[in-house]
Amino acid sequence: MSSQLLMFPKGFLWGAATSSYQVEGAVADDGRGPSIWDTFDHQPGKVLNGDTGEVACDHYHRWEGDLDLLNDLGLRSYRFSVSWPRVQPDGAGKVNQKGLDFYRRLVEGLRHRGIEPLLTLYHWDLPEALQQKGGWTSRETTDRFEEFAGIMGSAFHDGVTLWVTLNEPFFAAFEGYELGGLAPGLTDTGAAVEAAHNMLLAHGKAVRTLRACLPESAEIGIALNLDVVRPATSSPEDVAAAGRVNDYLNRWFLDAVLKGSYPRWLHDRYVQVTGREFVRAGDLGVIGAGIDFLGVNYYTPVYVESEASRDRMAPGSRSTATDTVLRRPYPDYLAAAAARRPAGNYTAKGWDVDPGGLREMLLWLRHNYNGVPVYITENGASYPDAVGADGEVHDPRRIEYLRTHLVAANEAIVEGVDLRGYFVWSLLDNFEWGDGYAQRFGIIHVDFATQRRTPKSSAKFLSEVARRNAVSRAAASLPADT
Ligand code: FCB
Repeated sequence: MSSQLLMFPKGFLWGAATSSYQVEGAVADDGRGPSIWDTFDHQPGKVLNGDTGEVACDHYHRWEGDLDLLNDLGLRSYRFSVSWPRVQPDGAGKVNQKGLDFYRRLVEGLRHRGIEPLLTLYHWDLPEALQQKGGWTSRETTDRFEEFAGIMGSAFHDGVTLWVTLNEPFFAAFEGYELGGLAPGLTDTGAAVEAAHNMLLAHGKAVRTLRACLPESAEIGIALNLDVVRPATSSPEDVAAAGRVNDYLNRWFLDAVLKGSYPRWLHDRYVQVTGREFVRAGDLGVIGAGIDFLGVNYYTPVYVESEASRDRMAPGSRSTATDTVLRRPYPDYLAAAAARRPAGNYTAKGWDVDPGGLREMLLWLRHNYNGVPVYITENGASYPDAVGADGEVHDPRRIEYLRTHLVAANEAIVEGVDLRGYFVWSLLDNFEWGDGYAQRFGIIHVDFATQRRTPKSSAKFLSEVARRNAVSRAAASLPADT
C-alpha cells in the first residue's frame, strides 16, 4: 500500500483560498466604499436568483472562527484577497484605517496560528469610484493600483511573504468587458483589450512598488486561469483554432508577464478590431520585469473546433450544452468555437473533470516558460452538497476530484516541475459571481440562512493529505453523496 503513497517535497505549502467579495459581506461596514460588484449584482438579471454579496459568508465578522477551522484542518497557508474599496473607499488617496485594520487582524490571526498568508491585491472588486472614470480601460487606474499596492506593501512588509498582484486578468478583462458575464458587464472588445493591457501594466507597476517596500525574502506573483486547450479533432483546422484560443486565453498573459511580449498576430488583430494601438513604448518592459512565481488556477480543459468545422456540421448535431462547459462561445476574431466532450465527467458547474490537463499544463509551462516556479493558487470543484441526517456533508466526488488532481500535480513534480504549493478553491462555499450561491466549491459547507459551517468529508481528506504531505494513488472507498 505504501508504494501507492505519493510524497510531496518537504516544505510544500498546503492551503485554501477565498476572495474578499465572495466571502466578506459587510459591504457598508467601517467605511468601505462600493465596488463594481455591489453595482453589478444589484442590476436585475446579472446574478442568478438576484443573489448579492451583501452578506456572503459574513467572514468580515466571523473571520476568527474561519481561521480556527483552517487551523483545525492543519492547512498551513491561506490565500485571501484584499477589498480595495475597504482600504481606499474612493480608489485613491486617503486610507480608511478601519479597513486596513481588518486585514491587520486577519494577518496577525493567521501568523498567531502558524498559518502563512498569501495576499492577493485584486480579485475583481474594483472601487466603483474608479469605474466611474473608465475602470480598467483607463491608464489612470494602473497608477491608482500602484498606489494601493504601495499602501499594502508598506502595511504588511513584515507580515506577508507571499503576494499575488492580480487574480485572473483574462476573466476580469474579457468576461468583464467583452462578454459581459462579470462586473462591470460591458460587451466591447476594444474596452476588453484596453482593460487586459492595463491590468497587466498595473501588475508590472505593482511588482515594481512591492519590490521597493518588501524584504528580499518576499515572493511576488500573479494568478492566471490557465486552461489546456485541446482541438476537438486532429484536423489541421481544429488544431489551428486551438492554437488561436490558446493565445487568447493563456499566452497573451503568460508571454507578457514572463517574456515581455504579446503573441504578434493577436496583438495585430486587436489593433485592427479596436482601431488603435494600445501598447505604449516601455509598457512591456514594465509588465515583463519579472516575478518570483506563477499562480496557476486550474479547473478544466477546453475543447476547440474551427469555425469551418462547426459550420460543416448538420443542424441539430451540435451540442446545445456548449455554454455550460465554457461560459460563452469565442469572439468572432478567433474563428473558433467551444466543443463539448460527449462522454465527459462534469461537475455541477458543467466543467469537465480532467486531471491529466493539470499535469499537461504544468509540463507545458515548465517547457515554455523556463521552469518558472509555480503555486497552484486555485483548484476545486462544485457539487450540490447538503448536510445529511447524520449532520455530515459527504462529498466523495470532490474528494476524487482533489485526489486525482493532486496525483497529477505530483506526477508533474516528479517530471521536474518546480511546484511549491496547492490552494484548494475554496475554504468556504461562497458567492460564486454570476451563479450567486448556487455553486458550492467549498471544502466547508456554509448554510447561508444560519451561517453555520460544516467541514465536508473533502476537508478531512485534504487535512489528511496535508498532514502526511502525501496523496494516495488509489481511490478510497467512500460513502455516497449526501
Ligand atoms: C475562478 C475565480 C474564483 C472562483 C472560481 C470557481 O475563476 O478566480 O473566484 O470563482 O473560479
